[in-house]
Amino acid sequence: MTDQPIALEAYEHLASAYASAIDIKPHNAYYERPATLSLLPDVDGKRVLDAGCGPGIYSEWLLDHGAQVIAVDASPKMVALAKQRTHGRADVRQADLAVPLSFVESDSMDLVISPLVLEYVRDWHATFREFNRALRSGGYLVVSVTHPFFDFNYFRSQNYFATELVSSQWTGFAPVRVTMPTYRRSLQETLNPFAESGFRIEKVLEPKPTEEFLKADPRHYRELMKQPCFLCIRAMKV
Ligand SMILES: C[S@@+](CC[C@H](N)C(=O)[O-])C[C@H]1O[C@@H](n2cnc3c(N)ncnc32)[C@H](O)[C@@H]1O
Repeated sequence: MTDQPIALEAYEHLASAYASAIDIKPHNAYYERPATLSLLPDVDGKRVLDAGCGPGIYSEWLLDHGAQVIAVDASPKMVALAKQRTHGRADVRQADLAVPLSFVESDSMDLVISPLVLEYVRDWHATFREFNRALRSGGYLVVSVTHPFFDFNYFRSQNYFATELVSSQWTGFAPVRVTMPTYRRSLQETLNPFAESGFRIEKVLEPKPTEEFLKADPRHYRELMKQPCFLCIRAMKV
């Protein structure tokens, strides 16, 4: 039996507040999403797995750009919100990315995306092998994660090389506050699982915030122009 996902309780609590905020929350709307979207191949007519879909903002974008979408998330509330947002156009299911996605056929996907999700998964090899199985040869995997250097500083870690379970208070989705557990890992533990699971990394982005971010939140804009918070990666199944 597998343990329950580390952030399940936190996301069940946060789901509605997260869904209400992310269309315009600067870190998502004007920083992470534009960067991750810039890494996607043309999705028109393509089969896409949205792995850790949250309330479905990426799934909706993919559908609007002509993709067929299977979306999964561990949180039942997120699954309900994603169904609501995509109006029955996507196949949305509750699933834990630490467990094989038996309902996804092998070699059936053109693209797997997993934005801001892998921080909650300890063993990336098992999850990436499953993404690799789901993808056809030449298919793409696009992910975004918290930048290892950001986390190392933020959590004042005593051991850069260890993969550590850490947690922080999330206050940016007021009025809801949650203690959010994540795994902090080194740069090599972030990049090597791609090659070790049958992918070739094509592009790595350390994004900068957009001009809209500057208007919405000048203080964090100035910070993010000098130090990265996220890392976005496009890899191809080889
Ligand atoms: C920060 S949100 C990102 C949601 C969406 N990708 C986005 O960018 O808006 C993280 C999501 O990962 C989901 N999640 C966390 N651990 C998971 C796991 N083990 N399996 C599947 N989903 C998981 C959470 O429920 C949450 O919806």
